[in-house]
Amino acid sequence: MADSRETLTMRAFVTGYPVRHSRSPLIHGHWLKSFGIDGHYAAREVAPEDFPAFIAALKDGSGGFRGGNVTIPHKEMAFALADEPDGLAEELGAANTLWLEDGRLKATNTDGMGFVSNLDERRPGWDDTGRAVVLGAGGASRAVLQALRNRGIAEINVVNRTVGRARELADRFGPNIHAHSVEALPEVMSGAGLFVNTTSLGMDGMPVPAIDFSPLASNAAVTDIVYVPLKTPILAMAEAQGFAAIDGLGMLLHQAVPGFEKWFGRRPVVDEVLRALVIADM
Ligand code: ATR
Repeated sequence: MADSRETLTMRAFVTGYPVRHSRSPLIHGHWLKSFGIDGHYAAREVAPEDFPAFIAALKDGSGGFRGGNVTIPHKEMAFALADEPDGLAEELGAANTLWLEDGRLKATNTDGMGFVSNLDERRPGWDDTGRAVVLGAGGASRAVLQALRNRGIAEINVVNRTVGRARELADRFGPNIHAHSVEALPEVMSGAGLFVNTTSLGMDGMPVPAIDFSPLASNAAVTDIVYVPLKTPILAMAEAQGFAAIDGLGMLLHQAVPGFEKWFGRRPVVDEVLRALVIADM
């Protein structure tokens, strides 16, 4: 009995609705294989109305999982149903990583950590100027703002078409975050070392309005949350203007690390082999 219970609990999931586009099974499958761990990570498509029952089964052990990842549209409900969300999840009102510990369902949100780890890996020194510009004030923007603030970035300017949404985030995430309408873009970009696109601009086939990146610091980096395609229209535009363009794939890879460590007990690395594997699948 003890053995089968142990085998059963070396299992984790990603759940979303839909979930078939998730790259998480590929990422965790690669890590399981490279460590030689006899574990299992699988996608579970769960409709929103079935999500509470799914979490109840996770909590009482009948689901057979040690924990898992949660993606759209379940992140908010995962936070609400967890026994012990941490401060990061609490502030975002959303969780993407769940694990059972001491009989309690714990939850965190690793999106912000993934965002910063990607920049640290691909662009060391990205935070030198202490100034960043974030375009967009939707769901994806929150984790970015949280992470930049937690990193200690002194001045973060959030720019959005609907300035009221930017103001809400500035109020929520603290005094070094300032809200602006898009007209202010050239001014707030002046001397900044990082430009982050968190909007869906360019993803719907519509042309992206031209952005002049020249006011940024000369060694500034431009990054995008979206990673399909790898080179988004905004990244292509930045590169054509001579700026370093950092794609969003690394954010996805890095956000997966803490979950794997919680469920399977080893800390995996994000390397070029994993990156190439995911790109080959795109
Ligand atoms: P997500 O969770 O992916 O961030 P979201 O909450 O719908 O999605 O937010 C989308 C972001 O893209 C918002 O900042 C949105 O601006 P508004 O708040 O003004 O809607 C921005 N966005 C989407 N399409 C846009 C467009 N055509 N022009 C400018 N901003 C756009």
